[in-house]
Amino acid sequence: MKRIGLFCSGGDAPGMNAAIRAVVRSAVFHNIEVVGILRGYNGMIKGDFRPLTARSVSGIISRGGTILHTARSPEFMTYKGRKKAFGQLKNAGIEGLVAIGGDGTFRGARKFTTEFDIPVIGVTGSIDNDCWGTDYTLGFDTAVNIALDAIDRIRDTAASHDRIFFVEVMGRNSGMIALWSGLAGGADAIFIPEVREDLPAVARELVEGRKMGKTSAIVVVAEGEEAGGAFEIAKKFKRLTGLDFRVTILGHIQRGGSPTAFDRILGTRSGAAAVEALRKGKQNQMVGIQNGKMVLVPFCKMWNRRKRPDLGWLKIAEMMSV
Ligand code: F6P
Repeated sequence: MKRIGLFCSGGDAPGMNAAIRAVVRSAVFHNIEVVGILRGYNGMIKGDFRPLTARSVSGIISRGGTILHTARSPEFMTYKGRKKAFGQLKNAGIEGLVAIGGDGTFRGARKFTTEFDIPVIGVTGSIDNDCWGTDYTLGFDTAVNIALDAIDRIRDTAASHDRIFFVEVMGRNSGMIALWSGLAGGADAIFIPEVREDLPAVARELVEGRKMGKTSAIVVVAEGEEAGGAFEIAKKFKRLTGLDFRVTILGHIQRGGSPTAFDRILGTRSGAAAVEALRKGKQNQMVGIQNGKMVLVPFCKMWNRRKRPDLGWLKIAEMMSV
């Protein structure tokens, strides 16, 4: 393999730049050229390419976001769009691809490779940590730590005013960020999409807590939680308890900023493993990490399987909030 293409797709995640740097430098090390494809599948369709050299990825390991930009592409979902993209790759002499993204990215890649002859290796980049087959996705650790920092700050003001706060963290379909930041931040309750909570019971616990001398409380809510997010839950709690609440939505703050050491290392190891996989002739697989080791997981295995958080953590959070 003489030339490969590299792109990000879906939501950005801290650590993507570390992965980009690692793909480029591992490829250069093995005398393979790297072409950066801007704005994901959209850029592939348009032929929006730029050569990447060892020097063009200098100084990016500590930066959040992605220097290649990212996008979601409705056009790539059509056969016409994918055919155009393949034509552009052929013209540019690109023989293999590394895709950094989440399961939507890999679904697109799998479809592409069954229709056209080009190998793709995926690197999981998503703050949600919702990809089956890997213990961690790139960006999750950073997002958890950002959420935790915010929870710690909110705790100060909550304690000062004897208030109850609902803090909403990201996670459209996944409660991973909520579980991790909630447990680490000492949350009194955690709401996640994977579990239907008994709201009146939790409300009673908060009221009980007050009677037992708890002057403030923090409730962490994942955005995809079924009642509709932190504002909706807070409204319901107000009706149930008559207590006053404050709501903080952390939003995209969780997606930006310098990646943690964990995400930089994960990005670096994943990028190097992706190039190694292409060199060995592998295709249609995602690079993941399991028990600290880099592994390859076939794209088709990860679909139809949902990563389940350990619900025992909710029980521990409940015990910690007595
Ligand atoms: O998939 C990552 C994620 O950050 C989700 O947690 C969130 O729901 C979504 O992306 C937000 O997407 P957008 O940036 O398009 O609003």
